[in-house]
Amino acid sequence: MQEKKTFYITTPIYYPSGNMHIGHTYTTVAADTMTRFKKLTGYETYFLTGTDEHGQKIEKKAAEAGVTPIQYVDKIVAETKELWKLMDIENDDFIRTTEDRHVKVVQKIFKQFYDQGDIYKAEYEGMYCTPCESFWTATQLVDKDGVKVCPDCGRPCQPMKEESYFFRMSKYQDWMIDYIEQHPDFIQPAARANEMINNFLKPGLQDLCVSRTSVKWGIPVDFDPKHTVYVWIDALSNYITALGYGTDHDELFKKFWPADVHLVGKEIVRFHTIYWPIMLHALGLPLPKQVFGHGWLLFGTDKMSKSKGNIVYPGPIVARYGVDALRYYLMREMPFGADGNYTNESFLTRVNADLANDLGNLVSRTVAMIEKYFDGVLPAWDDAGFVEEEDKPLQDHCAQLPTLVEAQMDKLQFSQALTEIWKVIGECNKYIDLTQPWILGKDPEKKARLADVLLTLAECVRFVGVLVGPFMPKTPARIFEQLGLTDDSLKTWESLDGFGKLPAGLKVKKGEALFPRIDIKKDLELLAGSADAPAKAPEKKPEPKKEAPKEEKPVTEIGIEDFEKIQLRTAKVIACEKVKKSEKLLRFTLDLGNGEPRTVFSGIAKAYTEPEQLVGKTLILLANLKPRKMMGELSQGMLLSALDDATGTLRLLTVDQPDDVKPGSEVG
Ligand code: ME8
Repeated sequence: MQEKKTFYITTPIYYPSGNMHIGHTYTTVAADTMTRFKKLTGYETYFLTGTDEHGQKIEKKAAEAGVTPIQYVDKIVAETKELWKLMDIENDDFIRTTEDRHVKVVQKIFKQFYDQGDIYKAEYEGMYCTPCESFWTATQLVDKDGVKVCPDCGRPCQPMKEESYFFRMSKYQDWMIDYIEQHPDFIQPAARANEMINNFLKPGLQDLCVSRTSVKWGIPVDFDPKHTVYVWIDALSNYITALGYGTDHDELFKKFWPADVHLVGKEIVRFHTIYWPIMLHALGLPLPKQVFGHGWLLFGTDKMSKSKGNIVYPGPIVARYGVDALRYYLMREMPFGADGNYTNESFLTRVNADLANDLGNLVSRTVAMIEKYFDGVLPAWDDAGFVEEEDKPLQDHCAQLPTLVEAQMDKLQFSQALTEIWKVIGECNKYIDLTQPWILGKDPEKKARLADVLLTLAECVRFVGVLVGPFMPKTPARIFEQLGLTDDSLKTWESLDGFGKLPAGLKVKKGEALFPRIDIKKDLELLAGSADAPAKAPEKKPEPKKEAPKEEKPVTEIGIEDFEKIQLRTAKVIACEKVKKSEKLLRFTLDLGNGEPRTVFSGIAKAYTEPEQLVGKTLILLANLKPRKMMGELSQGMLLSALDDATGTLRLLTVDQPDDVKPGSEVG
């Protein structure tokens, strides 16, 4: 028998410093969806997730809680596993970096690096950021009001001197650049590869500090036990230690390595596409085929963060709307790779529009019509041949759907794959309007035609039922039950190789609405109080370094033709005042040099408590933004400002020599 093709996918191993939130859930659901899709399409899959349990931060959290580090992480790990169960995550393994199987192999790897000269001992002198557990060189620090602060979290760093082991990353710099350039698929989305080369590799790769003497909660370096292995060698190795690499039981490693894809958030792309490949190369191992750096789930327009009190936990959402609704939303709302907002409103709107209306209605209308016109028994295709002009486009489109979905999934474009499925759902709903089964139903001579219309719809529903499975694991069974489909061989990927396989005689059964319609206004009030409360205490503290890594901004590339659509103009402030009844808004009157003063409202009142001081300044206006009614007046445009992520400080953009450019000048 021919061996199945394999597919190995991983998530980052998360810090169990607090409970996992919707951001961690996002990556984990993506990995699960991909695994289920590969399984459906015939692969032997392996899906690894886990927890990264060592380090100073955990040590500190445990001390604060009055427990030992292992007691502290044990509790959070148990809750994490519960959460993944709730989210219908089917991981094959869950690796914990405190497990013996991991610890032993990390020690072995460290020793090998040392023996072969990749690791050397030296004195480390540098600036250290305790919350981020990161050393920085003087040039990496950022100046904030005269104080040198951590470039990741914006907090002050302390000078630190310590004996450390270092990994000779610099030795591999040219090899790494070459590898990335020769393997365009290795780092996805592609723009992140350019960031890695231009921001980190070309300026010169520093050797990496890989041990600490001041952190006790870590894996001891066995040949020099006053040192513990410092975070990244420990954490990254999980992807191979979990497979039994370096032990006598390395069957999984032989079978699944190299990984097909490491899914990671964009802030840790650097570690996965520079340090990890270099480590693997030094071990003589092949590199993962791909590292995909996805974007961040933001809350409204803010990054999720404890200090802003806007962390969303999945528990309450799942309890009220079901796990499939949340999984669907996470995979549908934003293109994989880009940032996107989580808002309760966008979630509820999507559930209503896509799930209750589009999908739910299609299933319930199809089943209801078969009940009404054929006593609930699926008729046979009309012998005269079932394809009529009206049916062909939909049937052909549906028959192609598996190929269209697979093409998107191969690029990890979950949202696009769902869009393809929803195009067919939309077409089905239009087809009902076009064929008007309720009119056909009135004419006994049109019975055969009516049968074909309903069969076409029921068959499309079967296709959709199979294809949504990886995204929404509970939904297919509910759809098939309503269709009365019990034959498992018609629920497979293979059974989608032709259109029209649904057999006559199935007894359909109208069930509960797949996704009941939500009263959005009411539920928004309800969620305002609950969705951002943790499913279970305590909460997971956001890692400060994720708040504002400078180097890994969203990577949606635009062409110059896109930029040309944007009209930026200089605008001189004629008047600026606070808006009564609004804490946020300032009302600007602007001169654009054309004799017609413009009114623009801007939500920056908190940043400028004395707005009259802005009068006379020359600002930058997005001039062709669709006008919007605000406070009873039209706001025509948007003023550009810069936001410091770490401190939340907001400042308007101005022209540095305003007298040299007249108001209304083009900015570009
Ligand atoms: O970085 N949006 O662990 P971590 C999208 N232990 N994804 C998010 C997110 C958000 N708002 N918040 C978290 C670590 N994530 C290390 C990893 S791997 C060898 C070591 C997801 O607990 C995203 O995948 O800080 C991100 O990369 C990861 O959680 C960070 O988890």
